[in-house]
Amino acid sequence: MTDDSDSTPKNSEGYLAVSRRGAMLGAVAIATATRFADSAEAQSAAPQPALPVPADKALTVRTTINGDMLEINVDARTSLLDMLREQLGLAGAKKGCDHGQCGACTVHVDGRRVASCLTFAAKVEGREVTTIEGLAEGDTLHPMQQAFIDHDALQCGYCTPGQIMAAVACVQEGNATSPERIREYMSGNICRCGAYVGIVAAIQDAAAQMRRA
Ligand code: FES
Ligand code: FES
Repeated sequence: MTDDSDSTPKNSEGYLAVSRRGAMLGAVAIATATRFADSAEAQSAAPQPALPVPADKALTVRTTINGDMLEINVDARTSLLDMLREQLGLAGAKKGCDHGQCGACTVHVDGRRVASCLTFAAKVEGREVTTIEGLAEGDTLHPMQQAFIDHDALQCGYCTPGQIMAAVACVQEGNATSPERIREYMSGNICRCGAYVGIVAAIQDAAAQMRRA
């Protein structure tokens, strides 16, 4: 995602440094966000001025996010969701409830879905994080993204990034084998618009494509 030809400083191990004030990555991340990221929201979620962090709470996290190796200075109390949205400008994952109950913040850590609002940023040290911004291959949408469009599986779109990340995991876990099973294994992702019929149809469609790939 990041242009390696830029002059951004990297350490000897190739990690790109990101301070709490953010975010040289922010502009890049926003610019490369998929069409599912709300651009107005992405701009409002651009890195904000950070409050001072007490020395005993300061932490550096080294992690890979959407293929970029990053070294990020965080407050040890920061959630993965806040680090993504507020420090890195990756606004695709949404803050719905902030209590692990709606699934809007779903991302993948080492290929497994997690609620990023319930995950400390420190927990992704040395791990690989994928957000909705990292799902497409260049201009080619992931089959799950395309299927959500094809099946009209969204209305307001607020839950959609989390639905798609959970849906990809649902297929990869082998749990997209029937509409009933899809509903069960997607039950942690709430859609207040009630787009569930389209969501299940999209997952069935994308699952077939993902199995053929
Ligand atoms: S915002 Fe994380 S589960 Fe609702
Ligand atoms: S599309 Fe509006 S909350 Fe799901």
